[in-house]
Amino acid sequence: MTRTLTSPRHRRSLRAISLATLTAVVLAGGMAATTAQAAGSTLQAAATEKGRYFGTAIAANKLSDSTYTTIANREFNMVTAENEMKIDALEPNQNQFNWTNGDRIVSWARSNGKQVRGHTLAWHSQQPGWMQNMSGTALRNAMLNHVTQVATHYRGQIHSWDVVNEAFQDGSSGARRDSNLQRTGNDWIEAAFRAARAADPNAKLCYNDYNTDDWTHAKTQAVYNLVRDFKARGVPIDCVGLQSHFNAQSPVPSNYQTTISSFAALGVDVQITELDIEGSGSAQADNYRKVVQACLAVSRCTGISVWGVRDTDSWRASGTPLLFDGNGNKKPAYTATLDTLNGGTSNPQPGGCTVAVTRSTDWSDRFNVSLAVSGSSTWRVSIQLQGGQTLQNSWNATVSGSSGTLTATPNGAGNNFGITVYKNGNTNLPTATCSTT
Ligand code: G3I
Repeated sequence: MTRTLTSPRHRRSLRAISLATLTAVVLAGGMAATTAQAAGSTLQAAATEKGRYFGTAIAANKLSDSTYTTIANREFNMVTAENEMKIDALEPNQNQFNWTNGDRIVSWARSNGKQVRGHTLAWHSQQPGWMQNMSGTALRNAMLNHVTQVATHYRGQIHSWDVVNEAFQDGSSGARRDSNLQRTGNDWIEAAFRAARAADPNAKLCYNDYNTDDWTHAKTQAVYNLVRDFKARGVPIDCVGLQSHFNAQSPVPSNYQTTISSFAALGVDVQITELDIEGSGSAQADNYRKVVQACLAVSRCTGISVWGVRDTDSWRASGTPLLFDGNGNKKPAYTATLDTLNGGTSNPQPGGCTVAVTRSTDWSDRFNVSLAVSGSSTWRVSIQLQGGQTLQNSWNATVSGSSGTLTATPNGAGNNFGITVYKNGNTNLPTATCSTT
């Protein structure tokens, strides 16, 4: 089968941008960005209710576009750098690291209370010229040095790393992809995972690939066998990323849930890492619904990320594969995704409740934080202020503590409460966890 992912231009003529989509009425999306969303009214809130995250790829050069950042901030609680943490971006010259754009994305994510997926530590593609020209032991050592330096730089800030990306061939062979990294020896993948674990013991370590969504495909089976072997031999691996780039040539497979549950049964989490589905209208919406349903049906499917915010931000914009149109309006695919998240099976919550944290009014010296509890009316919320921050005020809950960790319990005003935090130089959003009492 011909790989379809690398030639979006070839399909451009097949895709007409839907005028109906472009002229769709402006939905209420931009209206409520500064206040707490009721649980379930955004993708991140609805996913959180189900014990999952909902993420997007972010491009550093779009962080100055307020339409983009408003949607991204409102809807998503997991961020993947679309290109800024790739090998060519971070290590343009050997052992000279350029953290600027990767750090911008991490900083934007953390200051808005979002987590970060790291993408990607080792890959045959997007290598800087110096690495492309290397081989053998020198390349193996350079790759391991890259993994170690990058995972160390971002230690403690990454939810999950795509440690190795796209290491298997398409087609029926089930073989490894030939590459300079593969030619350093078949153990290059496990060597990368061990180096990543040593550098950042708390990040989940994922193997990430495309065309691994159909359970019957040789490539899917090959990745399955790799993960099974790693688990059997104690090679550190925590998750499998299914990129899930779908279109007419590569549709959502009917056995997608089987693929997810089969990987999960090996004892790893499954993350849908780069979801996009070409199309428009109700057909596209149905396909998004199928993907979300399959994930919600497997408790170890812990999150979904789409590969961009608006159609115009997509690597294959002509296929209009995302949840927002070029004007930032919600598409039918968005509504289907949100509705499916709200209707699906909930992952068991360790604490029996969840809490959504949102920045609201912001002043130069302080900001308000809105907290919305769901899942229980008898709760205790533990709020971790960021370094230097102190509590100034609180409402609709009893809040104890003044810096570091605060504890909030109900005072009869319901499940939505708020605090005012003095920044003292730290603008990052506090984090919070919920448990039932
Ligand atoms: O930044 C330059 C810009 O200065 C220049 O004007 C422009 C035109 O040449 O190119 C820009 O760089 C491009 C970059 O995207 C940013 O737009 C690169 O040429 C282009 O190759 C790069 O494409 C990225 C691609 O990975 C590279 O492999 C896509 O944005 C990105 O969405 C895509 O993401 C991959 C995942 O990492 C792995 N899975 C598949 C997925 C889709 O291919």
